[in-house]
Amino acid sequence: MPHDNEICNRSSNRPFEDIMKAGLSRRNLLKRSAVLSATGFMGTFMGKSLLAEGVAAATRQTSSSTLLAQTSRVLGFSALKIADAVINPAEPSISDDYEYQALIPWGTSIQPGGPEYNGDPNTRPTSAEQANQVGIGHDGMWFFAKNGTSNTEGMLCINHEFGRNSHVLGKDAPESLEDVRLSQHAHGVSVVAIKNTSGRWDRVASPNSRRIHVNTPVEFSGPVAGHPLLKNPANNTFQGTVNNCGNGYTPWGTYLTCEENFNGYFGSSEGDAFVPDENQDRYGFSATGFGYGWEQFDERFNLSNPNYKNEHHRFGWIVEIDPENGSKKATKRTALGRFKHEGFAFATGAGGRAVGYMGDDQRFDYCYKFVSQASWRSMMARGLSPLDYGKRYVAKFNEDGTGEWMELSVRNPKLRGKFKDQGELLVFTRVAADTLGATPMDRPEWTTVAPDGAVFWALTNNSRRTAPDPANPLVPNPDGHILRTVDSDNHVGTSFTWKIVFIAEETHEDGDETTFSDPDSLWADSTGRLFIGTDGGQKKDLNNQLLVADPATGEIRRLFTGVAGDEITGVAITPDQRTLFTNTQHPGNGDPTETNFPAPTDGVTIPRDSTVVITRKNGGVVGS
Ligand code: FEO
Ligand code: CA
Ligand code: CA
Repeated sequence: MPHDNEICNRSSNRPFEDIMKAGLSRRNLLKRSAVLSATGFMGTFMGKSLLAEGVAAATRQTSSSTLLAQTSRVLGFSALKIADAVINPAEPSISDDYEYQALIPWGTSIQPGGPEYNGDPNTRPTSAEQANQVGIGHDGMWFFAKNGTSNTEGMLCINHEFGRNSHVLGKDAPESLEDVRLSQHAHGVSVVAIKNTSGRWDRVASPNSRRIHVNTPVEFSGPVAGHPLLKNPANNTFQGTVNNCGNGYTPWGTYLTCEENFNGYFGSSEGDAFVPDENQDRYGFSATGFGYGWEQFDERFNLSNPNYKNEHHRFGWIVEIDPENGSKKATKRTALGRFKHEGFAFATGAGGRAVGYMGDDQRFDYCYKFVSQASWRSMMARGLSPLDYGKRYVAKFNEDGTGEWMELSVRNPKLRGKFKDQGELLVFTRVAADTLGATPMDRPEWTTVAPDGAVFWALTNNSRRTAPDPANPLVPNPDGHILRTVDSDNHVGTSFTWKIVFIAEETHEDGDETTFSDPDSLWADSTGRLFIGTDGGQKKDLNNQLLVADPATGEIRRLFTGVAGDEITGVAITPDQRTLFTNTQHPGNGDPTETNFPAPTDGVTIPRDSTVVITRKNGGVVGS
């Protein structure tokens, strides 16, 4: 989203500045292997042009890990050519081998038959209607197949990250509590029963279809539950989730929604007189936030109201949702830490432990990992959530292609005395990570775990990087890169190896059909093919894109491009991998002169965030 690009990390964690003060130009870095070698990067850099040579080194470097030998994946479809993708920016474009269908745009009634918003510019839903309709800002999602196997029916859980006031309300600022409630109800998560009937997907009625928005009752679990830092003098109950961006899903059938830029929804009635404290500053709180204006009509979001002094600590978590139990409250899993969560890529590690890889999406913020205390199956058999008990770590990337997972615990000698208890440490996870000297990254967006155990991290961009480090070598880095890590001890160890597998800038050469910028969504299929969704200004007049890549060979093919002003978010898939769901988020940024998607082009209808269902015309596996 466009608000996530400030800098909140004022720590001095810049571990490689001195090493790299030589001020390598980007071209030098990409082209001059002698320089790479001299700075120890050679074994860790696998930009597109160097990738083939890098495979052998990668295999050697990871031979002691669980990473299996790389196998080639066939990308057999016709890539969408740039010339074909740019003909009509108001409409999506797709590879000739594929077709798409729009599904559950903003305003769709969660249950068939309810009131719906169709993009009429002269009206908007009421807040009560919106509470039972699909929200806006479609982002991370997952398809939970009926009976675990259906390819035609299931529950789609989908995040509604954000919708600007101009888009949702049709004006820049709320004028009433009703306006604020409409905005709040457009945020959050939808759980929607969907079914394919005669080749078309649509909602179907289900008691488990529901909205979870900013005012829905939720509960807290894990080390911070019951902590004084969550209590308010107002004694208000726990409500809501907001700015739900990336996601995760567990093998026990639950959905994980990740609260990202929660700071932007808080403001202060004191205006310019408001001064955030040190911890609030580290999380980016300010007097006006992102301009939503909720604090003007809803005291929960007024940072200066002492009755709600800890309300902002209730956001910034990963939230677990049971798609098959409509009466179960969403649960904030505090053991996973509080930061601007982008996603939770699940792996079952050694001993059957639940492992999750998580990005904190801000310039110069960090990569994190969680490892459950014991086998997730055994914990669940004892009635314990594997996400409530375990260790969490933050990453330090070394120049020699190795890395270290540093434990975020009050038992870590380096953190002793810094926090009153583990609960306080978790509320201020970023501060603990600063203390440990974690490596500041170029905005960690999605993570994904490939079937061979390798973990991929999308580092979307960082135009303000002034000094390179080995894991973030471009200065500045306007287009981003994708990095791969392989953990020791089958995901549960405290060391890893790493290398860069794609530098987006390298794909922009004249005549190169593979150009992309700003990787954001990332998902590896069962063969290791990487699906990459982009969020940012693409080159050559392209709208944002969904690409498929083979990290072993460096091959990239364009599958789909969205509409003007949008970003491509989220990847979900049916068990047979023949139906893929992605999203166009903020199409036209809400401007009907840019696009009217998913309505036909008429220059008037408000464009609506929408899921896009992608299938191969011959019925084959998506991406093959
Ligand atoms: Fe909401 Fe970091 O993307
Ligand atoms: Ca982004
Ligand atoms: Ca994102």
